[in-house]
Amino acid sequence: MEDGAVRCARLDPVDVGILGGTGPAGQALALRLSAAGMSVVVGSRDAERAQSLVDELLSAWSHRKLALQGADNSSAAAADLVVLATPWDAAVPTVTDLLATLEGKVVVSMANALTKVGREMQAIFASRGSIAQSVAAAAPACAVAAAFHHLPARSLAKIDSPFEADVLVCADQKRALSATCELIERVPGLRPVQAGSLAAAAPLEAFTAVLINISVRYKTHASVAITGMPTEGRL
Ligand SMILES: NC(=O)c1ccc[n+]([C@@H]2O[C@H](COP(=O)([O-])OP(=O)(O)OC[C@H]3O[C@@H](n4cnc5c(N)ncnc54)[C@H](OP(=O)(O)O)[C@@H]3O)[C@@H](O)[C@H]2O)c1
Repeated sequence: MEDGAVRCARLDPVDVGILGGTGPAGQALALRLSAAGMSVVVGSRDAERAQSLVDELLSAWSHRKLALQGADNSSAAAADLVVLATPWDAAVPTVTDLLATLEGKVVVSMANALTKVGREMQAIFASRGSIAQSVAAAAPACAVAAAFHHLPARSLAKIDSPFEADVLVCADQKRALSATCELIERVPGLRPVQAGSLAAAAPLEAFTAVLINISVRYKTHASVAITGMPTEGRL
């Protein structure tokens, strides 16, 4: 972790691009972020698919003012801050294809490497420890953070309902950490919690398997709440 304060200049206004944004996780995050006032580009390998999904979302939530647009992943990668919401095994190839556009950007990886074994979800350990670390190695000119792993898409997508969770964030570079924490702080109900360097992404990603098993066992959509936190000065 770099030394010094973790605060950085406010990203204002925030344009967020979501790579692989047409899946449940990307859509849900796009809805929550846009409901919180951010402008979101839902990215896809197919711009038409992204735009048609966005049209559906705008129609379903026509009573809300949502700044959403659909585009190809390359256009989404041009946003201020980019979230990687592809399946885990597509994360590195997706970023590798977009290296020139992503240069210098904060990239937030939310991918979890998981597999179903029998009735249970289990973690797969990536060669570099985590998907986020693999992304950072593949994109050394980006500032990579890991976050959003534990937010259940179904709850996140219901933007007319309150949703509360702690979002564990880890990064090696302070600008990745602070930009990601500031993004999370803008969303009512979400609280960023700094969880360490990018080395902590491995247990964050793996813990998602535990949450899914809990969700299945108790027929719910479990997330994370950390106790014992100070009430002020989180960033
Ligand atoms: N679902 C959740 O509740 C949740 C919560 C937290 C984190 N996550 C993590 O977030 C990520 C996305 O989850 P998801 O459930 O939304 O996944 P998903 O539906 O399987 O995939 C998301 C999108 O990625 C794109 N994609 C699929 N295969 C690809 C490939 N080979 N190369 C490039 N792009 C590809 C697809 O978009 P296009 O076909 O439009 O390109 C797809 O709609 C996963 O890594 C997951 O572990 C999920």
